[in-house]
Amino acid sequence: MALLLRRLKRTHIWKRLLVERFSEPLHLNLLSLVVAVFGSLRTKILFDLCIRQQHAFGLLTAADDALAGGYKSVTVIEFGVANGVGLLNICALAQKISKLTGISFNIVGFDNVNGMPPLRDYRDHPELYQPGWFPMEEPAQLRAKLPANARLILGDITDTIPDYLSTLSGDSPIGFVSVDVDYYWSTVNALKSLVAVPELYLPRVTMYFDDIARAEHNPWCGELAAIGDFNAANGSRKIAPYNFLRVNRLFKNAMWIDQMYTLHVLDHPARFRALRDHGRVIIDNPYMGLKGREG
Ligand SMILES: C[S@@+](CC[C@H](N)C(=O)[O-])C[C@H]1O[C@@H](n2cnc3c(N)ncnc32)[C@H](O)[C@@H]1O
Repeated sequence: MALLLRRLKRTHIWKRLLVERFSEPLHLNLLSLVVAVFGSLRTKILFDLCIRQQHAFGLLTAADDALAGGYKSVTVIEFGVANGVGLLNICALAQKISKLTGISFNIVGFDNVNGMPPLRDYRDHPELYQPGWFPMEEPAQLRAKLPANARLILGDITDTIPDYLSTLSGDSPIGFVSVDVDYYWSTVNALKSLVAVPELYLPRVTMYFDDIARAEHNPWCGELAAIGDFNAANGSRKIAPYNFLRVNRLFKNAMWIDQMYTLHVLDHPARFRALRDHGRVIIDNPYMGLKGREG
């Protein structure tokens, strides 16, 4: 509650509330008050009542998908941690979602401590971001605040990802990735975490891209350019905007909706299992009295 009150003191939060929330139908906003007090966690996430809705949605989707795939645990990555507010938010939400779904989370935050690295070229958006911005001021303090299921991996992600991937196991596949490293080149390197053996991922990995929502962002620079290049370079791994998410959300003006993507792991064994072991599905036709069935 104290965190919520502190956030409400910031003017950009009011602007977002005005544009995203007060522009929604009155009955939904009134219903939100009831849900805020009496609603379950799942309903609160549906009503966008958690701080950093993108994390709440991404974590819940990963947990649900993990459960459906028969896993007990799922791995979550944040690329770009800075002072850790996003990572601690992920940890707090994950704890609640674990209680709800029974899925446990392994959480990892990647950062180089010193803030943004040197710029390489115009694709890093030098007009928006500068070297040295967003340093991690208290890495030891942040580490001490993390729960037992979360850890920080410090250093340039170019160097730290290969070792990290070698420690991963298919028992806890990657299910949600938040990319908040701002630059094109940092994103290119972060996305290298998505091309290891398919068993290290859920068949579809929910992703959030933080730095694609300003007017200056475009498909030839920054995170959007890195997504385009990733797709061009990889035949069986594709990152696409999360399909029809806006239609399926109650609050359709929320900005985060357009920042959600999915990594489709097209070479995932689950897809081949489904190809092999397919049953028979028959579509009903009430006009002719035919019943639908599966088997
Ligand atoms: C905008 S900040 C992240 C903010 C954070 N996600 C939050 O919620 O507060 C971007 C971070 O990305 C990190 N970063 C950018 N490029 C990096 C790289 N190549 N390796 C490691 N960290 C990088 C910077 O150190 C910086 O802390």
